[in-house]
Amino acid sequence: MLRFQILSNRCGLGIACFLWCVTIFLTGPVFADVPTGVTNIFKPLSTPAQAIYEISLLPLAICAGIFLLVGGLLAYTVVRFRRRPGDDGREPPQIYGSNQLEFAWTVIPIVTVFVLFLATARTIYDVQGAAPPADALNVTVVGHQWWWEIRYPELGIVTANELHVPVSEPSQRRPTFLKLESVDVAHSFWVPQLAGKTDVIPNRENRMWIEPTQPGTYVGNCAEYCGLQHAHMLLRVIVHPGEEFTKWVAEQKQTSADDPQTRAGRDLFFSTSCINCHTVKGTQAAGTFGPDLTHLMSRETLGAGTAPNTAEKLRAWVRDPQTIKEGCNMPNMQLTDNELYQIVAYLLTLK
Ligand code: CUA
Repeated sequence: MLRFQILSNRCGLGIACFLWCVTIFLTGPVFADVPTGVTNIFKPLSTPAQAIYEISLLPLAICAGIFLLVGGLLAYTVVRFRRRPGDDGREPPQIYGSNQLEFAWTVIPIVTVFVLFLATARTIYDVQGAAPPADALNVTVVGHQWWWEIRYPELGIVTANELHVPVSEPSQRRPTFLKLESVDVAHSFWVPQLAGKTDVIPNRENRMWIEPTQPGTYVGNCAEYCGLQHAHMLLRVIVHPGEEFTKWVAEQKQTSADDPQTRAGRDLFFSTSCINCHTVKGTQAAGTFGPDLTHLMSRETLGAGTAPNTAEKLRAWVRDPQTIKEGCNMPNMQLTDNELYQIVAYLLTLK
């Protein structure tokens, strides 16, 4: 009895999962005209993600067919040949060796796998073999434990955790080609609505590209377990209409203004070990272990999506990052309250 219950629970769970997949599968494309703010491979808004979505329908359809066939036959057999009162309890006739059956269940799977292989290989070739157009935006993304360094070598911009790119329109295609590197362990770059995941591996350069077709904010995350704070290694891709992107680039290229009101905090910042790890462009702070802080306050989050980037959270972060993101490489600097307020007042001017 118990065994039957476990079996029927498992069966129920399986059916629930299947129905959930079907729902996602059917409702996915219907709403896929704005970034959803959730990670969903069934709502692609970028050329490579669209190609992957389209190819995924074939194996899903084949697997759904196999599921229905096998599940249907199983259900039929269980009901039709169940034990009934008055059965004599003898074994039914045993049948060994049927060439037709064995031939069928050898050939059908081979043909299925071969079809899937050919279709998938074509999409992989199309996506990975795409050559960057001359005017493509090139970005280098460097994985760190546990944040993303984002460099625009041609534009001279360095930022963190938030990748800003232009939108691609049918009249003007503007794909972004990414070079992926890691300074420590293996990470994986994944923004499901924009492209498949690509590993980010030390001593190796991987490449991928995205071509978002709708402006907005797309979220993603590190998809390879990389240590304690793997779950707090979030990505934001902010897709701008063409002119807005040009404006963002111009803002990021500027150095920070020297506000006399926060001079004390600035001097303090430069006299502590902050500058061993952080860069503020146009000053003597040129460390590269931690995120570039030149335009810190233009970013939405702190600690790669761990907390919103507000004055209050920033103060809590600088006081002791370990309370917000345990294990991160930034230590508690043991600042006094006064030093903390002055340094944060300075950081708040880095817009
Ligand atoms: Cu980086 Cu997981």
